Amino acid sequence: MEIIILKDAQAGSEVGGKIVANLINEKPNAVLGLATGSTPVMLYNEMIKWHKEKGLDFSKVRTFNLDEYIGLEKNHYASYYRFMNENLFDEINIPEENKNIPNGLAENIKQHCLDYEAKIVEEGGIDLQVLGIGSDGHLGFNEPTSSLASRTRIKTLDEQTRDDNKRFMKDGDPVPYHCITMGMGTVMDAKTNLLFAFGENKADAVQQMVEGAISAMCPGSALQMHPNAIIILDEAAAAKLSKADYYKWVYNNKPKWQTY
Ligand code: GLP
Repeated sequence: MEIIILKDAQAGSEVGGKIVANLINEKPNAVLGLATGSTPVMLYNEMIKWHKEKGLDFSKVRTFNLDEYIGLEKNHYASYYRFMNENLFDEINIPEENKNIPNGLAENIKQHCLDYEAKIVEEGGIDLQVLGIGSDGHLGFNEPTSSLASRTRIKTLDEQTRDDNKRFMKDGDPVPYHCITMGMGTVMDAKTNLLFAFGENKADAVQQMVEGAISAMCPGSALQMHPNAIIILDEAAAAKLSKADYYKWVYNNKPKWQTY
């Protein structure tokens, strides 16, 4: 794991934007795995800036989103389909047919999940997966006790996650109980995983993920087994890491060819 601790979410998102831009410049038809939640919004703003100000071309990029709620219409205000359009896709030049988001209204969910996995393989696999982390250590919607080898499937949300995500709902609408999510095995197959965590309410999950034992109780800890996981944190999210000074030294003393 490469742990990058920066002063705030903006600085972290700028580095993240550069990592994504470098990949797309090197491989214009890169396959990106994308995430929702409040954390990647600043990264998406950086990607939009790269597109609008520096001409970064998304016309050949393909994307796969991590997850979607079951039962919400595509254009429901809280659907991840709508989130992605509003926060990224409407502002860049990615063709409609290149975007993939699990369909929470699929009639045959089991088959839909198998097809989603097959399509990722067909497109050559995910080059770079963007991730946030839930306060209970979940990635995508892989809640604690999710198999660390799981594939795209239906999941039931943990009460803590439903509670955390209440802020995205209006007029007392309930957070759905069910979702479709890529599995931990799917995430682990990505060539690079790029995870962002900002704010003090992520400090415990980050500590477990980076320095705790590998355990299905903190699905994020599976990234300890990933050969290319980059974890970008602000000071608050890094506050409980015992080796924070070491991670900072390493980052600040990288050879030039290894910097972003
Ligand atoms: C949601 C998403 C995750 C996200 C997590 C954290 O449940 N399914 O992909 O990482 O919440 O969200 P936030 O970034 O808003 O803290």
